Parts: sequence; C-alpha cells; structure tokens
Amino acid sequence: MRNLVLGLQFGDEGKGKVTDFISQENSVLVRYNGGTNAGHTVVTKKGKFKFHLLPAGSLKASSIVLGNGMVIEPEALVNEISDVLAENPHLKIHISSAAHVVTRLHKYMDGAQEKMRGEMKIGTTSHGIGPTYEEKYSRNGIRIEDLGNRDTVLKKLSFIRELRSSELTESPFNNEELEKIADELHEKWQYFRSFVGRTEYFLFDAVSKNEHMVFEGGHGTMLDIDFGTYPYVTSSNTISGALHTGTGISLRKIDRIIGVVKAYTSRVGEGPFPTELHGKDADLLREAGGEYGTTTGRPRRVGWLDIPLVNYAAMLNDVDEIAITKLDVLGQFRNIRICTSYGKNVKEPVNALLGKEKAEPEYVEMDSWGKIGEGEIEQIVESGYDAVPEEMKNYISTVERLTGKPVKIVSIGQIRESTVVRK
Ligand code: IMP
Repeated sequence: MRNLVLGLQFGDEGKGKVTDFISQENSVLVRYNGGTNAGHTVVTKKGKFKFHLLPAGSLKASSIVLGNGMVIEPEALVNEISDVLAENPHLKIHISSAAHVVTRLHKYMDGAQEKMRGEMKIGTTSHGIGPTYEEKYSRNGIRIEDLGNRDTVLKKLSFIRELRSSELTESPFNNEELEKIADELHEKWQYFRSFVGRTEYFLFDAVSKNEHMVFEGGHGTMLDIDFGTYPYVTSSNTISGALHTGTGISLRKIDRIIGVVKAYTSRVGEGPFPTELHGKDADLLREAGGEYGTTTGRPRRVGWLDIPLVNYAAMLNDVDEIAITKLDVLGQFRNIRICTSYGKNVKEPVNALLGKEKAEPEYVEMDSWGKIGEGEIEQIVESGYDAVPEEMKNYISTVERLTGKPVKIVSIGQIRESTVVRK
C-alpha cells in the first residue's frame, strides 16, 4: 500500500502523528517538500520527539527518503539523523543529491526580507526557506551534491552574496565568513555523504517491489504557493501533485490519499483566517491544544473547524479519506461550533480565504463530549470506535456529511497509541 498523508488546513494538523501511526517497521517513508519550517511532534511512551526534516515515522520505519523537492539545512540534518539513529539504528537513509541546501546566508536573507516588507511581512519561520527556493528557481542554488566540493560551495556562496547584495548589506558575510561557511558545509557533508544519491531510483524500485510506503507532505494545503492564501504561504507547493515533482514518483502510483484535518483550525504567521477566535475562547483552545509552533515556539492563532476551507483543500488534493486529530482538545468547550459556509454572498470560498470577499461564517452548534481523561482514552482505544462518546461520533459524522469524505482515522490524544481506526 502506498499512502500519501497531507494537511488540509494551514499546517500543524497532526500529520506527523498520522504518518507515524500508519507506518510499519518495514515502511519506506518519504518527504518531498519544504525544510525545517515544518515541524512534527511524535509522542511515544519513551517521550517527545521533534522532527523538522525527517518524516515523522522515522523512529520505527526501515527506510526514509528526503526527496529532491526539499530544502535542507545540513546542521539540522546531522542533528536529526544522529537522534533518530540512536533510537532506530537499522534505519536506512536516502537523501536526494538534487535537494537544495539552506545556508546561513539564506536564513539571514529571510529575516532581512521580512524587515524590508514592514507591515507587509509574511511571518515566516525565518528558516531561510523562501530565499533557498528563490535560488533554486533562479538556477543559482547549492544542491546537496555540491557539498562534496568545498570550492564549488565557496564559488556559489560568493556569487549569491554578489547577486543578493541589497539583502545582505548589513551582514557580516565577508570573505573570511564565507570560507568558514563553506568549510562547515563540507564538514557536515562528510557525515551524511554515504546517504546521498539519486533517490528516484530507490523509490522506483520500492514501488516496483510493492513496499509499504508513506509519503508525507510538509505544511498545509492553504500554505501552497499557488493555491494557498498568497502571499501568506510557504515557498513550495504543498498539494498532492508536489509529490511527483518532489520525488519523481507519479501520483498515479499512490493508492490512498489521506487528508489530515485538525478538529479545529490554527495558523501561524499572518494572513486571512475566517473562523479565528479571540479573547478567552482563543486562550482556552490554544492552551488546551498546546498550540505553540513546533519550529518557532510562536503562539498559534486558533479558531473553529472551517468546512469551506477543508472542502477546498480536499478538492485540490483529491483526498480519499480524512484523518481527524485532536478531538480531545475540543472537549474543553461546552459548546462546539463548525463553520459550514461563508454566507450567501461568497460563491467561491477561496476568494474569502484570499481576503478578496468578506466571509460571514455560518456555524452549526455541536454538543460537547466533555473532558476525556487518559484512562478513558485508553479504554476507547482498546474497545474501538463503538466506545467513542456519542457526541464525538456526531461531530465526526457531521464532518463526513459536510465534506462527503469518510473519516477513517480518529485521533483523540497526544500519544501514538491514542488513535482509533474505523473499519
Ligand atoms: P516559511 O515557510 O518559513 O517561508 O513561512 C511562510 C508561512 O508559512 C509562515 O506563516 C509560516 O508560519 C508558515 N509555515 C511554514 N511551514 C509551516 C508548517 O509546517 N506549519 C505551520 N505553518 C507553517
């Protein structure tokens, strides 16, 4: 079975937990876009693991692949690889030689651009993602394979400095500093060079052998560079089609596309958010859901589940089914709401999401299932879907009715084991 797991909101839907949950010991896990701007937390009985580059199921899989569509920061890569190998020493790692490298110059430029934007700022993670993709598409980028040659790296860094001088004016990137960066990058290369290659061949082979595969999309659909809430988006495509360009594997080879939906909505950074909550309700939801960025620690903006948004994302990604996460969190509220429409004046929801038309969200009120204790979660997981509280079942069937998609995976707690599969 070849699965694709991706987020149907603004990121942070809990994709990591779903990837981890459906991964098996013999799985090949693949990431194909973005870089350390993504963040997944996996909570196991052994503790909390945070990943930014490696797919979330890396702790138990047999192979992982970082595809050519990614932008990789070598230092973060080395740290994550050494953490994961300590837990899963037999893991085989494959890194595309064609993926691009995020350097300190790019991180600096990310910050400089945000400063220059002033009130037009995007609220990026400042991990250098945008500038690295700019370099890629202007064909001046440093690819992973370049790291093997320190002089090539230095030449490219000097060229980038020259080209981007207006963004690097106050920067300390003199010749000596560039030499240092080239040395550091080349040194990191020594650590992971044996993992680097043309990953498309490994992937084609895995497909032809019918391996169990999980492709994990970074970020959410509404952060897609083309279909998201531009300019408040990330710099890569996040919809399902990005899997093909980011790995070489055609979407036709995917058996199941799982759209992950958090039971409410959150977003970090700027941009439209029709169902956003403010004040006490927002604080309650943020605290209950631990809605602080995995990557930046920033408090996330939070709001009710937004069906027009989810439906737009489900349409773009051609999802087969939905996995719903963090249902336990909503139990903190006495009354729970779901946005069903942006009002009769909005014909195409994307226009409201882009801030071009005014959304007047209409809601249905749902009964709460109340707080669920750990013991209760364990009991539900043990007994299966029938043991899910009636109010929660009602919420899930309302989501199914409003989206026209089956909800097959239901996540009701933080730890890996707190997930129920619906047959
Ligand atoms: P960038 O990807 O760092 O350029 O940031 C662009 C926007 O996307 C910002 O609002 C970020 O907060 C947001 N973003 C990027 N990746 C993620 C993610 O994985 N989860 C949530 N927000 C993200």
